[in-house]
Amino acid sequence: MSRRILVTAALPYANGHIHIGHLMEYVQTDIWVRFQKLRGHQCIYICADDTHGTPIMLRARREGRSETSLLAEMHESHLRDFTSFQVEFDNYGSTNSPESQQVCEQIWAAVRAAGLVVERDVEQLFDASEGIFLADRFVRGKCPKCGAPDQYGDNCDVCGHTYVATELIDPVSTISGETPEIRTTKQLFVRIEELHAFLDEWTQSGDHLQPEMANYLKGQFLSEELRDWDVSRPAPYFGFPIPDSPGNYWYVWFDAPIGYIGSTAQYAARHGQSLDEWWRSDDTEIHHFIGKDITYFHTLFWPAMLKTAGLSLPKKVHIHGFLKVNGRKMSKRDGTFVLASTFAGHLDPAAFRYYLASKLGPGVDDLDLNLKEFVAKVNSDLVGKVVNLASRSAKFVAATGLSANYPDDGGLFQKAAEQGAAIAEAYEKCDYNQAMRLIMELADAANAYVDRTAPWTLKKEPDKADELQDACTVALNLFRQIVVYLTPVMPRLAEQVGELLTVEIAHWDDAQTPLVGTPVAKFKHLMQRVTEESVEKMIEDQKQQAEQEAAAQQARDAAQAYNDSDQPLREEALAETCTIEDFMKVDLRVARVIQAEHVPEANKLLKLTLSLGGDEQRQVFAGIKAAYEPDKLVGRLVVMVANLEPRQMRFGLSEGMVTAAGPGKAEVYLLGVDSGAKPGQRVH
Ligand code: MSP
Ligand code: ZN
Repeated sequence: MSRRILVTAALPYANGHIHIGHLMEYVQTDIWVRFQKLRGHQCIYICADDTHGTPIMLRARREGRSETSLLAEMHESHLRDFTSFQVEFDNYGSTNSPESQQVCEQIWAAVRAAGLVVERDVEQLFDASEGIFLADRFVRGKCPKCGAPDQYGDNCDVCGHTYVATELIDPVSTISGETPEIRTTKQLFVRIEELHAFLDEWTQSGDHLQPEMANYLKGQFLSEELRDWDVSRPAPYFGFPIPDSPGNYWYVWFDAPIGYIGSTAQYAARHGQSLDEWWRSDDTEIHHFIGKDITYFHTLFWPAMLKTAGLSLPKKVHIHGFLKVNGRKMSKRDGTFVLASTFAGHLDPAAFRYYLASKLGPGVDDLDLNLKEFVAKVNSDLVGKVVNLASRSAKFVAATGLSANYPDDGGLFQKAAEQGAAIAEAYEKCDYNQAMRLIMELADAANAYVDRTAPWTLKKEPDKADELQDACTVALNLFRQIVVYLTPVMPRLAEQVGELLTVEIAHWDDAQTPLVGTPVAKFKHLMQRVTEESVEKMIEDQKQQAEQEAAAQQARDAAQAYNDSDQPLREEALAETCTIEDFMKVDLRVARVIQAEHVPEANKLLKLTLSLGGDEQRQVFAGIKAAYEPDKLVGRLVVMVANLEPRQMRFGLSEGMVTAAGPGKAEVYLLGVDSGAKPGQRVH
């Protein structure tokens, strides 16, 4: 029976690029979705950018642009990365969408109506120079318990003590470097404890979570009273305003999972469906794929919100561990914090997909990307076992096509067809490692067949043409069967094999019946060997990128010491690039003020006589009266635009312009030059 399945992967933060750690999740989810689709189920893969919160707001400020322009750029970049890894969403939205906002408001109304919201005063650290409340990760200070320096606002790395940021000793804002002050704000909390009994049942039922995660929740959270969940943040905050609480915004983790529904709404609208078919229906299975670090949000708060709002609960939350590289945490300094774009620039993303699949089990253990093993495995399995089947047989039947009847293969095809059920079961359980093992066993058997029949020797004997065609028909059918089973992992290979054998791979059951009598296209290379050098180059490239980034960060830190405001640039953005020729059209010269006087009829202007040396003089009217006393100007050097077209003013002819900065009125600052410069010298 056909199932309706909605699958999500966690929404990546919009403030960073996609890296191979993320890809461990998006690829594993993509494999599961492609598997379901190939089985003929109606399945959609929903995701979005997670856009709200302080980091995006700060970055937009720093870069002097709007949050929305930043979000649009990251959205495009994320999609580009996903596409290059053959991760295909049915909708990729944004939590900053009208659809999401609407669902937030609906869920909020339900939470209010259930009487779960309480308001309380909260003390928070406020950075007065930036005008923002500081999230825990933006403050550092001494641990209140052990005194260890340089600890974040939530817990101590040294002694493990957890505390609130206001308890830190000598706190410092990492944004401005200033000492924050304590301010009291009114914040909204959800009394999650009211749903304790429901959560006990839902998490411990045995169906929805991996057993180790159910146990973790029981031991870590559910054995005690659940703490009220702080769901609001005071302005300024980049997010959605809470309709019935002016000045407060929903905390990013309130609206983030709601983004799953908002993104589904876009999909449903595009396909003329109602959102309720997906989120208020007993006929739809909802599956979330997430990393273990965000378990708490997806297995306690999220089901509680859904339950309260009368929406469908997830059938399963699939939780995975973290990706490590060569046994260690991914590290920028070691070049192992590999971005998706860097990887795709050096290596075949399909190789990553296969390696990942070969290592992923249904548990929550971390997964080690061992780079040597990666090279060896891809070469031996994909190139040596799978693709090799086709490269040793396809060319011999390009002229004749496959035999009209499927030859006797000693039961190989039949056996592999029967294995389909076990392989499907492994995919279904997210035991991809087991699935890949079973598939490689089939590849071993198929290779033994090709070794035994040796088409390349049959080719040399003219009277064995039929035998040759039969041997290749078997080899290519065994190959195709394997590729059908690999389709969720290697969708592009499946397409190429569809072209080679001139029949598209469209369904899991295509592995049940052999192809006969069909043409075979000219053999094209299907996959390249991976080399250790290209892996090394990739790591080196990533290392260099990290070094450049670190240098840029250092420059920002250096600038922070001066604490120069970004206001001028925000008020007037930088102009378009010009050429050196454009610039040289403006003749800037050093000039000496030799006379300065008030203009009685003008309340902003001073009349200046400027000397360019020798007898060369210019008369200039400058709007600097509010800022400068005429007497104090006489004798000083200024920089003037000397080739500006003269302009007739009411008070006389103005023959140039004096350069100055500042917004105007009393805030005008003439440009000077260091001593030694001489009137008449050009500025360039
Ligand atoms: N924005 C939140 C999720 C909101 S879901 C309503 C978030 N974003 S994230 O960009 O930090 O991570 C996205 C997903 O990638 C998470 O499931 C996270 O666990 C996963 N991973 C991030 N780094 C990872 C590894 N190094 N290894 C495996 N998964 C990793 O959390
Ligand atoms: Zn401590």
